[in-house]
Amino acid sequence: MKENLTINLKNASGFISSEEVIALAQQSVRHLDSLNSATGSGNDFLGWLSLPDDILIQLDKIEKTAKHIRSVSDTTVVIGIGGSYLGARAVIEALSHSFVQLLATKHHDVIYAGQNIDEDYLSDLLEILNERNYSIVAISKSGTTTEPAIAFRILKDHLEKKVGKSAAAERIITITDAKKGALRSMAQANGYESFIIPDNIGGRYSVLTPVGLLPIAISGLDIRMLVKGAKAMEDISRHNKHCESNPSLLYAAARNLLLQSGKSIEIMVGFTPKIHFISEWWKQLFGESEGKDGKGIFPASVDMTTDLHSMGQYIQDGQRIIFETMISVKNPVKNIAIPLEKDDSDQLNYLAGRRLSDVNHNAETGTTLAHNDGNVPIITINIPTLDEFYIGQMIYFFEMACAISGYILDVNPFDQPGVEAYKSNMFALLNKPGFEDAGKKLRERLK
Ligand code: PA5
Repeated sequence: MKENLTINLKNASGFISSEEVIALAQQSVRHLDSLNSATGSGNDFLGWLSLPDDILIQLDKIEKTAKHIRSVSDTTVVIGIGGSYLGARAVIEALSHSFVQLLATKHHDVIYAGQNIDEDYLSDLLEILNERNYSIVAISKSGTTTEPAIAFRILKDHLEKKVGKSAAAERIITITDAKKGALRSMAQANGYESFIIPDNIGGRYSVLTPVGLLPIAISGLDIRMLVKGAKAMEDISRHNKHCESNPSLLYAAARNLLLQSGKSIEIMVGFTPKIHFISEWWKQLFGESEGKDGKGIFPASVDMTTDLHSMGQYIQDGQRIIFETMISVKNPVKNIAIPLEKDDSDQLNYLAGRRLSDVNHNAETGTTLAHNDGNVPIITINIPTLDEFYIGQMIYFFEMACAISGYILDVNPFDQPGVEAYKSNMFALLNKPGFEDAGKKLRERLK
């Protein structure tokens, strides 16, 4: 049997006691009950809880579609924003070759659009796509989000001109609401193959639906193992009321106690650049779930050791309002050792023969001790290696912890009312039909 992800609070113990953590985790068992009985706030968005089982019947179709896309194209553009994109990118980047797009061996490239409205980004992308044999996966639950909608309009037009309307329809897949939204009507009108985002699953909890799984399968990764990992975490967290052995309860309790002690910023720290987008996914999950009603921990992230040479100074020595959550990966997948050099001109012979992971682990331990000395508590999440199984575990672990943590904070972790504010201003300024009066008022304000 495989090990599980574990949480270690030793490096937070100078700031919060294990008794306090256990006490709050124990009190939070009621939030687990609220989730399982669907009696807490946002209870119409709990479909993610049982996804590791519920998604199984869709895996064949997802894999079949991925196989088709891989056979007709060499590149897929995944269009989406926020929860409709970050989960897929997090998994794909964590498990792909670091220089995948430069690999000479035959592989399928997954690239992204619809996360910004930058003209240069999209122009550069079109330039690349002129030379590529590509497919499109367009993802939007509402089907009306402006950024992906604009990218889809432009890329669909490009693809249709390149291969013709009917061949384009063979390589456009949509993932959207079952009935509502422009993307659903376009899929119906053009005969695109499509998948449904269930009503009861919000964007940031949707990585284990086709939203995440289809792009991940297209990239060639093992989605069954990802779901298996999530299931293993569901087994130890969803109904486990023994808080000492429930990592999600412990994490939710520890971070809230740290917040209560004045640590209002949580930085996710990784010592491999591969988890950069896992941190991005995590920031959205926690930021959008908890940052409301004037509450919430501000989620930030750094990549080490890179950022020890930029943000390291602040973390060590700036305002003491920070705690860290460190993702500690025990074993790298590959193996490289430092060579011996005869004249030792760079004075690195003391490291000769040692693996880079050995040096990296010492950097991690040294950083942990230094940050603790600088009054930065650290929660450590341990995983044996970066693979589909453990990333699946991490996904479910963080989703469960986020839901519990939102309930501890007494916010609805499943809505995002604040995201609308910029949208209505943008629509007003762009004179979207229905927003003309608001537009006039904003223009007055800007005079
Ligand atoms: O988590 C969320 O709900 C959001 O981040 C959405 O995923 C994001 O705003 C994109 O929305 P949509 O999928 O409707 O285009």
